[in-house]
Amino acid sequence: MITIKNRREFEKMAFAGETVGILLSKVREAAKPGVSLIELDELAAEIIESRDCKPSFLGYHGYPAHICTSPNDVIVHGIPSDYRLREGDILSIDAGAIYEGYHGDAALTFPIGEVSREVRVLLETTEAALWAGIEQVRPGGRLGDIGHAVETEARKHGLGVVREYVGHGIGRQMHEDPQVPNYGKPGTGMKLRKGMAICIEPMFNLGSGDTKVDTDGWTVRTADGSLSAHFEHTIALTDDGVRVLTEVPDLGYDVQNG
Ligand code: MF3
Ligand code: CO
Repeated sequence: MITIKNRREFEKMAFAGETVGILLSKVREAAKPGVSLIELDELAAEIIESRDCKPSFLGYHGYPAHICTSPNDVIVHGIPSDYRLREGDILSIDAGAIYEGYHGDAALTFPIGEVSREVRVLLETTEAALWAGIEQVRPGGRLGDIGHAVETEARKHGLGVVREYVGHGIGRQMHEDPQVPNYGKPGTGMKLRKGMAICIEPMFNLGSGDTKVDTDGWTVRTADGSLSAHFEHTIALTDDGVRVLTEVPDLGYDVQNG
């Protein structure tokens, strides 16, 4: 179901979204060589609680953690484990929070220390594709415009586009209609309108876009073992314009203490 949100509801989503942004900043900051993925999950849990939010991932279809931690060839839905980060890894963090019943959802991917130029291009291109998609968000714009803009960025650099997993509407539920694919034809698909909120979430691979799922039923990997990146924002079509609700604050300062 597509839901239309009013100003009061968007304010709640903005608080949830800001919480997710802060969480991603702090987890990225903490993700150093030697740190385990479970330690990052514990940090995420503390941040969600400190903002009077609830975790949205924990218990979602039985998901066992507060965030998804997806290293290297893991595309999405990696379960935090005792794996300790190593210099040269890349790591995707996907996080969600609920404030007074309203959701925020976002993801980013970053390197642990130095990575090759090819890997930097993967990360930069996937993030650029997210922003190219966001630029297409406007009342009357279509889902195909977004998908096409996202896909075009991948094409420029010969990256594989993951097609099995897509973005989504968001509100009182983490996953609402419509589905927001990372591919499409301009001028086709559903029209966006004020009051909607969507998550755009490109997933690009250095190899093909094909995926496989581990026996844990969650961990989604590239079929060919190539590295994968994932970026996501929650975007609202408010009366005052398009607002990205999950922007990651620059951690040059302490968010909580000003
Ligand atoms: N946040 C993810 C998405 O972007 C979904 C997380 S699935 C969960 O849609 F099970 F981990 F919650
Ligand atoms: Co999402």
